[in-house]
Amino acid sequence: MSPSNNTAASKSVPDRTAGAPLDQAATDHVVEVRDLVKTFGKLRALDGVTFSAERGTVLGLLGPNGAGKSTLVRILTTLLRPDSGVARVAGLDVVADGQRLRSLIGLTGQSAAVDELLTGRENLELVGLWYHLPKREYRRRAQETLDLLALADAADRLVKTYSGGMRRRLDIGASLIANPPILFLDEPTTGLDPRSRNELWRLVRERVGAGAAVLLTTQYMEEAEQLADRIVVIDKGTVIADGTADQLKARTGGATLEARVTKPSDLERAVAVLGDLSPTPPRSDAEQRQVSIPAGEGTDLLLDTGRRFQEAGIPLDDLGIRRPTLDEVFLSLTGRSHGDAEPSSAEVAP
Ligand SMILES: Nc1ncnc2c1ncn2[C@@H]1O[C@H](COP(=O)(O)OP(=O)(O)OP(=O)(O)O)[C@@H](O)[C@H]1O
Ligand SMILES: [Mg+2]
Repeated sequence: MSPSNNTAASKSVPDRTAGAPLDQAATDHVVEVRDLVKTFGKLRALDGVTFSAERGTVLGLLGPNGAGKSTLVRILTTLLRPDSGVARVAGLDVVADGQRLRSLIGLTGQSAAVDELLTGRENLELVGLWYHLPKREYRRRAQETLDLLALADAADRLVKTYSGGMRRRLDIGASLIANPPILFLDEPTTGLDPRSRNELWRLVRERVGAGAAVLLTTQYMEEAEQLADRIVVIDKGTVIADGTADQLKARTGGATLEARVTKPSDLERAVAVLGDLSPTPPRSDAEQRQVSIPAGEGTDLLLDTGRRFQEAGIPLDDLGIRRPTLDEVFLSLTGRSHGDAEPSSAEVAP
C-alpha cells in the first residue's frame, strides 16, 4: 500500500470541524457492514462481510495476512469503493456520504503516511490545519501529542531522520490530533517497542473512555485481548467468528486441566489418575512432564484431581485449569496459526 493511499482520510479537507459530537440517534451502531464485497480482478478480497460495532467500544479485527483487513479499513475510511454491499460509519454511507464522513474519522494506515520533508511538529500541525482547528488549538494539541508519544525531543527534526518506530508514533499522533469520534487503526503497534505499545494502548483506552469508537486490526492476540470489547475474525474475505475473547475461546472446546508431575517417573501413574476422570484419553507430554484432559467449566474437577493425586502420593509441580489463548482459537478456526504467511493471490482466487 503506498503512503498516499493512507493519507486521504486524515488529510483531505473536511466540510465540518472535527471533534464535534456524533448524532446520538444515528450511532448506536457506529460501524455497520452488510454483505460487503470487494474484488481485485479475480481475487475476492472481501466476500460478503457482515458485522457491526457499537459506540464507545473497541472492535478488534483479526485475520491472517491477506484476509482482507486493510481492504475493509480502506472501504470504511472512504479510500476504496466496495463492489457491492453496504457500509455505514456513524450512520453515513461510505460511498454516498464520504465527504461528510471524512471529518468524523481518523485513520492510521498500515504504512506510515507522514511527510518526510517536514518536521514531526509540522506534520501534526498540518493535520490540525486541515481539520480547521484554530491555530492556537492545533499548536497546543500538536505539542500535547508529541509529549504523549515521546517525540518531544525530536519534534523539530525532519521526519526523514526518524527511526521506523518514531514515524509510526507520529503517524498515530496524526490520527489522534483532531480528536475524531471514530478511529481506525490498521495494525497500529506493529514495529513499536513494548513501552510505546503500552502507551498507545493507554491512549486508545482513554479515547474510548471519552466515548470514541475504535476499530483496530492487529496481528497480536494479546493486543486484541487487551483492547477489544469484541473481536471479528476474518479469513479469506469472510467473517469466521465474532464475539468477545471469552466467547471465542469457549468455541475452541474450552478449558483443559493440566497437571505437571515433579518426577518424570510418575508420568504414567498421572495418566492413569486423570484417565479415571475423563471420558477421553489424557494427553501427555513427557518432555514437559505434563498430562491434560478437557476440563469443562467447574472447579470441582480441579479439587477432585488434587485430592486424587495426593491420595496416590504423586507430587506435582503444577496443577491448574488453562483456558485456550486467542492464538489457539485462531488456529482451530482457520487451521493456521495467526502469524502464518499469506497464501499467494493465485491460491486465494477461486
Ligand atoms: N489494490 C489491490 N490490488 C490487487 N490486490 C489487492 C489490492 N489490495 C489488496 N489486494 C489483495 O487483497 C487481499 C486482501 O488484502 P488486505 O491488504 O486487505 O489483507 P490484510 O488482511 O490487511 O493483510 P495483512 O495482514 O498482510 O495486512 C490480498 O490477497 C491482497 O493481495
Ligand atoms: Mg493489512
